[in-house]
Amino acid sequence: MKIALIMGSQSDYDVIKPALEICKEFNVPVVARVLSAHRTTDEALSFAKEAAENGFSVILAAAGKAAHLPGVLASVTDLPVIAIPVQTSMMGGLDSLLSIVQMPSGVPVACVGVNAAANAALLAMRILALSDEEVAATYRKYVMKQQESVRQQDREVIDASRLYE
Ligand code: RP5
Repeated sequence: MKIALIMGSQSDYDVIKPALEICKEFNVPVVARVLSAHRTTDEALSFAKEAAENGFSVILAAAGKAAHLPGVLASVTDLPVIAIPVQTSMMGGLDSLLSIVQMPSGVPVACVGVNAAANAALLAMRILALSDEEVAATYRKYVMKQQESVRQQDREVIDASRLYE
């Protein structure tokens, strides 16, 4: 069980880092690669075709602009592909988002928000949790930690706003 984290360019690396951190927190092995749908097409296709037999369970794919990478990978593997549209300077990432989500019927690609790499990794953890009790238990702990953090924020805002009563 491991995660593939594919990006179209090294310039996407900062965006995908939160996904690497989630994989580490969940103790799930991750392999990160730069494979471009347009510039190293053969390598991208080979990777995706062999991903299942190489032990990958989910593919995360980050891409910007004409972001065809997630769809191209999904076209040659049956593994779930979760896309991360990368923010761009010209169109803010709307270009990436629309390039990714309008897949033709029959080739599904899940897509999180622009630059939302942590959510992509968390969705991957939910998929893994279906068949892995350790990942499921870590997910429960993650949710409880998150709840406690928001409850703490709530307490702080209640206290701070008392000044205005
Ligand atoms: C896409 O084009 C990459 O995923 C990246 O987000 C964008 C720009 O790539 P570079 O020009 O920085 O290599 O393929």
